[in-house]
Amino acid sequence: MNDRIEQLADLMTLEEKVSILSGEDFWSVPAIPRLGIGKLRVTDGPNGARGGGSLIGGVKSASFPVGIALGATWNAALVEEIGAALADEVKSKNAHMLLAPTVNIHRSVTNGRNFECYSEDPILSGDLAVAYIVGLQGQGIGATIKHFAGNESEIERTTISSEIDERSLREIYLIPFEWAVKKAHTWGVMSSYNRLNGTFTSEHNWLLTDVLRREWGYDGVVMSDWFGSHSTAETVNAGLDLEMPGPPRDRGQKLIDAVKSGAVSEATLRQRVIAMLRLMQRVGSLDDHRDFQEAANDRPEHRALIRRAGAEAAVLLKNNGVLPLKGEGSIAVIGPNAKIAQIMGGGSAQLNAHYRISPWQGLVDAVGEERLRFAPGCTNHRFEPVLRGSFRVEYFANQTLAGKPVHIGSQDEAQAFWIGQVAEGKVDPLHFSARLTGSFTPDTTGTHRVGIYSAGFAKVHVDGKLVADAWTNWTKGRTFFEEGCDEVVGTVDLEAGRAHEVVIEFATKDFATLGLAAFAAGIGLPLGNEAIAEAVLAARNADTAIVFVGRNGEWDTEGSDLPSIDLPGRQNELVAAIANANPNTIVVLQTGGPVEMPWIGSVAALIQAWYPGQEAGNAIADVLLGVAEPSGRLPQTFPVRWADNPAHSQDREVYPGQEGKVRYEEGIFVGYRHYDRLGLTPLFPFGFGLGYARFAVADLTIDDAEFEAEGSVMAGVTVTNVSERDGAAVLQLYVSDDVASDPRPAKELKAFRKVQLKAGESRQVTMALDARAFAFFRAQSRHWLVEDGSFTLRVGLSSADLPLSGTVSRRTTLMLPV
Ligand code: BGC
Repeated sequence: MNDRIEQLADLMTLEEKVSILSGEDFWSVPAIPRLGIGKLRVTDGPNGARGGGSLIGGVKSASFPVGIALGATWNAALVEEIGAALADEVKSKNAHMLLAPTVNIHRSVTNGRNFECYSEDPILSGDLAVAYIVGLQGQGIGATIKHFAGNESEIERTTISSEIDERSLREIYLIPFEWAVKKAHTWGVMSSYNRLNGTFTSEHNWLLTDVLRREWGYDGVVMSDWFGSHSTAETVNAGLDLEMPGPPRDRGQKLIDAVKSGAVSEATLRQRVIAMLRLMQRVGSLDDHRDFQEAANDRPEHRALIRRAGAEAAVLLKNNGVLPLKGEGSIAVIGPNAKIAQIMGGGSAQLNAHYRISPWQGLVDAVGEERLRFAPGCTNHRFEPVLRGSFRVEYFANQTLAGKPVHIGSQDEAQAFWIGQVAEGKVDPLHFSARLTGSFTPDTTGTHRVGIYSAGFAKVHVDGKLVADAWTNWTKGRTFFEEGCDEVVGTVDLEAGRAHEVVIEFATKDFATLGLAAFAAGIGLPLGNEAIAEAVLAARNADTAIVFVGRNGEWDTEGSDLPSIDLPGRQNELVAAIANANPNTIVVLQTGGPVEMPWIGSVAALIQAWYPGQEAGNAIADVLLGVAEPSGRLPQTFPVRWADNPAHSQDREVYPGQEGKVRYEEGIFVGYRHYDRLGLTPLFPFGFGLGYARFAVADLTIDDAEFEAEGSVMAGVTVTNVSERDGAAVLQLYVSDDVASDPRPAKELKAFRKVQLKAGESRQVTMALDARAFAFFRAQSRHWLVEDGSFTLRVGLSSADLPLSGTVSRRTTLMLPV
């Protein structure tokens, strides 16, 4: 233990000690000027560093590919590079710690937050998390791996109890956290909102103390998710160091009293304080006394890295030879995601990107506008498009818009997410009202839809008439992290070219869990049959049609799960109609996970491009034109139907949860482990992706000299690029226990390597397996066990393409410590 930290702890008064165990505001822990201790600042990730503002607006930042896109790269070296670049971003926001990476497992295909997480597989998630953390912390910025643990759905997420047996926790859900601690020495862990087997994770002694600290040897800080602490002595005693955000609700005076009454011992308090001081020392905030200043650094090297990573994440799922695009022919650019750049998911991971390149823009820059023709075809939004324009905002220091406004501001869009300081501090952020006045000038005459949803009461008047009312009968829905209502939509007839007055009124209401006030108002004109007909015509008249479909951050978002995995709106109809009109139809899908694809047999090619960050359109154009190789492989199985997914069940307790519980009944059979068990053929298997280059694997060699004594094995394989293009192969090694005494998956990924190979090049690659690669967790005796008997190693290029195999065997069992 280092002397300076011990001495500081000795010098601190009880009040000072307690003060650094809670946030001061949303994004910081208070300084202690008397002792020269600086303020510690955190910022959200994982796909960038948003900075100290609100979720909407704020200082601009670089927007990197989202978690599932990084999962699809299968490239730990690239993820480490991104981690290091993110450290620059965190520094530009004057912060010391990034609230990332997110490593919850893709249990259900409908989890709203899967886009933010890497994979359905713990090993792929774990390896990438380690790389991300090493990259970030190597530059002195702390990681906060989250959400520990059992946060695999957004439904009732702040109260639900995830019922998970210990073996499934150990073998699936805890692995990325365990590796982050043991292999990357993460400095931060964030507890989740949910309960785990009945107890909030923020006060779960077994999780935070027995497993995390005693077994894994963790010496960093555990912080609560925002408003996820629910008690004083219980959280402190269980191992939660920091309550976030501030000002404190469970700590402050309450914790001082708990220490005085003996409910929290001086020794426990000191442990928490030491952990906080150690963190402050690691990230340099202990001696950081700079004035707070945030910068928007749009760096060319970040642009290049994001573009490269976006292309590397792209998974080519089907190609009958139409890709990469060749020649000079005309291209119909179709679909709701063609001109709107879908670069990230929604929720706390969102940020104000430096810029957003749409696929249309990317193609215009790559091939010139003369070859392109655009038709949207249909829409795919969940909410009416946010109204943009200039709004005057009057703020009232009461909840009834009464009297004179205390502050007048302005906004350039009809949405707000008010946290922390509001109206320059002239209103109480949880008790105020506001009126926004602006106008909307439509391009087309017709009946428009006006929508509003709000965490608080809100209504929209157009030309003096109440059109959408989320005030009078406000009911809790699935927006704004479950603090908002569902969208309320009204209709109004509007005239092209005329400025119609729009007035939005808002008032705060008591919040359930998260202290926030927010609303979003939008106006849209529904697209009808003519829009599809126009797109079909464009496709018919072009040599190639590219359809940009998918979802956006309104669907793939924190705070709500997906209602299904159908493409929203009329997109299935659109793709089928375009494929029917043009045999060279290419689909570019942007989602945070699988969709059902009734049209898959009729399209010529399909690329899954995820949400690749601010360079989206450039990365997609690079892949379409073959400037970059789509070397992504699926980090999640794409099932034929939603019903094939492991968490899909008639029993509501299995998903989405019932009476406050969600039971992980499938146990360890998550993702491909489940499809294997039931013999279900997915639409596209885990680890699959075509690329333009082609590869072959041969000559599996196994060195098992240490297997009996240590449980470790080395596997070697030769991989050859058998095509005329340079490219990258993703070698995957799966292990099966041939004579398992406890039920085990048919095979499990245990090692992988991404290998860049020139056309025709061959390389020998080795992959190391340690004893844990062969072990399972025996719940009765609570240890990892490698059984005697034989194990099969399978190597290949996807979970469904494993041509090489070999066996190793051992005579004795091997017990491994937890
Ligand atoms: C999310 C966290 C995030 C925090 C701060 C919560 O809603 O679950 O992932 O870091 O907010 O924005």
